[in-house]
Amino acid sequence: MENTAQRRWTTRVGDWFEERFNVRRPLEAFLKKPVPKHAIRWYFCLGGLTFTLFIIQGITGILLSLYYKPTPEDAYDSILFIMNNVRFGWLIRGIHSWSATLMIAMCLAHMLRVYITGAYKRPRELNWVAGVVLLLLTLAFGFTGYLLPWDQKALWGSTVGSEILGVVPLVGEALLGLLRGGPDITGLTMTRFYGIHMLVLPVLTFIFLGAHFIIIRRQGISGPL
Ligand code: HEM
Repeated sequence: MENTAQRRWTTRVGDWFEERFNVRRPLEAFLKKPVPKHAIRWYFCLGGLTFTLFIIQGITGILLSLYYKPTPEDAYDSILFIMNNVRFGWLIRGIHSWSATLMIAMCLAHMLRVYITGAYKRPRELNWVAGVVLLLLTLAFGFTGYLLPWDQKALWGSTVGSEILGVVPLVGEALLGLLRGGPDITGLTMTRFYGIHMLVLPVLTFIFLGAHFIIIRRQGISGPL
C-alpha cells in the first residue's frame, strides 16, 4: 500500500519534470543499456568498486573538513579532537584512511583486469590514457592527504616523498620548491597540499571520470575474449 503511494508520488514528480523538460526519452536511451552477459563477472566490477570508494572518500572527506583545521598550530590538535570528542569522528577518519588505501589497490586491480583482458587495445587507447591520469590523481590524493595530520609520520613521509621530485634532472629543485612552497616542509606546504587535496584533485578527478565514463558508454564494454 505504502509502496504504491510512494510510486505514485515519484511518478508525479517525474511527470512534473517531464512536462517541463521532456528528458525521459533521451535519459532512458542514455541510461538503459543492458550489460552484456560476458561482463557479468566479478572482475568487471573493479572499476565500479574504485568509483564507489571515491564517493566514500568524498563523503567522509567533507565530514572531516567540518572539524579539521589546516594550520601547523591547529592541525594535529584538530585531529585529536576528531578522534576523541567528535561523535563517530574516529570512525569517519578510519573509513577515510582505509578507503584511501583500498581505492589505490582497487584502481591497480582494475588496471590489471583491463590489461589482462586486452581492453586497452584499439579503440580504447584513449580510455587507457584517461585511466592512467586517474591513477596518478588517486596517488596524488594519498600523497597530499598524508601530510595533513601534521604528526611526525606525516612530516617525514612528505619530506621523503617530495624529495623524489627533487632528483628530476635540471628542473628538480625548482619543482621541489614549487611543491613545498620553499626549500623545506612548512606551513606553506600544508596550505598548498590542503588546497590541492580539497579542490584541485577533486575537480580534475571529476573531469577525467566524466571522460572515462562517457567513453565507456559510447564504446561499450570490451569483449567477449
Ligand atoms: C579512479 C579510478 C578509476 C575508476 C573509478 C574507473 C572506473 C571504470 C569503470 C566503472 C569501468 C567500467 C568497466 C569496469 O568496471 O571494469 C572502467 C573501464 C575501463 N577503465 Fe577504468 N577506472 C579507473 C581507473 C582506470 C585505470 C588506472 C585504467 C588504466 C590505466 C583504466 C582503464 C579503463 C579502460 C581501458 C576501460 C574499458 C574497459 C573495457 O571496455 O573492458 N581505468 N573504468
